Amino acid sequence: MSGAAGHALAIRGLTKRYGAFTAVDDVSLDVAQGQFLTLLGPSGSGKTTILMAVAGFVEPTAGAVLLDGRDITPLPPERREFGMVFQGYALFPHMSVAENVGFPLRVRGQSRADRDAKVRAALDLVQLEKFADRLPRQLSGGQQQRVALARALVFDPTLLLLDEPLSALDKKLRAELQEELKALHRRIGRTFVNVTHDQEEALSLSDTIAILNHGKLVQVGGPTALYERPRTRFVADFLGKSNFLEGTVRESTLDGFALEAGGARLQVKLTAPAFPPPGGSVVLLSLRPEKLALLAEGETADNMVEGTIRAWSYLGAGFSLVVATEHLGEIRAVLPAWKAAIAPAEGLRLRLGWAADAAVPVEEDAPPGDTT
Ligand SMILES: Nc1ncnc2c1ncn2[C@@H]1O[C@H](COP(=O)(O)OP(=O)(O)O)[C@@H](O)[C@H]1O
Ligand SMILES: [Mg+2]
Repeated sequence: MSGAAGHALAIRGLTKRYGAFTAVDDVSLDVAQGQFLTLLGPSGSGKTTILMAVAGFVEPTAGAVLLDGRDITPLPPERREFGMVFQGYALFPHMSVAENVGFPLRVRGQSRADRDAKVRAALDLVQLEKFADRLPRQLSGGQQQRVALARALVFDPTLLLLDEPLSALDKKLRAELQEELKALHRRIGRTFVNVTHDQEEALSLSDTIAILNHGKLVQVGGPTALYERPRTRFVADFLGKSNFLEGTVRESTLDGFALEAGGARLQVKLTAPAFPPPGGSVVLLSLRPEKLALLAEGETADNMVEGTIRAWSYLGAGFSLVVATEHLGEIRAVLPAWKAAIAPAEGLRLRLGWAADAAVPVEEDAPPGDTT
């Protein structure tokens, strides 16, 4: 690969309508040069449509796509020179691995000698040099997907677009290819835009995650920021698991408040700079299951709740418990298995605790179709 730097991508007010249906609704996004951006959202949230608009296969109803500040919206796909990996493998079954990878170069009219060197370099990049003469059906799913990656990289694109490239693979292979994709991104320093509905993939790969729902961008940020400070119930629920506790603010201080929820009084400390909500207002809290701890006899925490195990499961690394509480309804907790001081059993009584800064206020989602 040459030393050419990746491009910066900007999406401005992108909207795509099909008749009366809005698939993408006024989405604006900036992807810095060399960044790994992931579009994350449930099926039908508009991810592929955005990627296709960036690639030039979908004509926006409104809005623009900018590359290094230049409006490329009118350019056809072949003039954009982006590498693409589509969902599924989409290799030519009758062509060898080398022929598949060399195909984009042949289309561009490059000579055999030029092609061979570039194909070798691209196969080297995905560690498939030894498989050049095989047919796709003689490869595993993960290897086929690496061939598709090599084909997308062979003409040295400065922007790589990936549409759920790993979703057809089993869990273990997916994790391996995630590592490879991450290493590849670091090695070649190009701008990557990846689409997935897999939250773990988004968290582990991305510099920035853009979360979509019903064609709208709901939140953009780094993985930690999004996981730790989701802005809405949808984000908290989609990116990881969460308990939701609703209550009324009873007392505000400079950096926190007391919340009356179902007869319990909870202490909340705000970690991000924010004004505590006024007394009397209704607040929804998101509390991650792994932030709850089992309290030993006599042990205390900022917040404590007593309950009975209603259901539990063993996850290997942890126990997942559903605890029925008197004041807060069902609470989900994940405890590290190796140091759990109990053997979970249905009906077992226990006390759980969490720190005042473990729960974060989130907004209730606007109903779909609400344009405010
Ligand atoms: N060509 C089309 N005609 C009509 N509706 C479409 C078309 N393409 C996509 N859609 C609709 O737009 C929405 C978003 O689709 P898509 O971008 O493929 O979502 P995702 O990739 O997030 O699953 C879906 O409801 C889909 O049915
Ligand atoms: Mg899609």
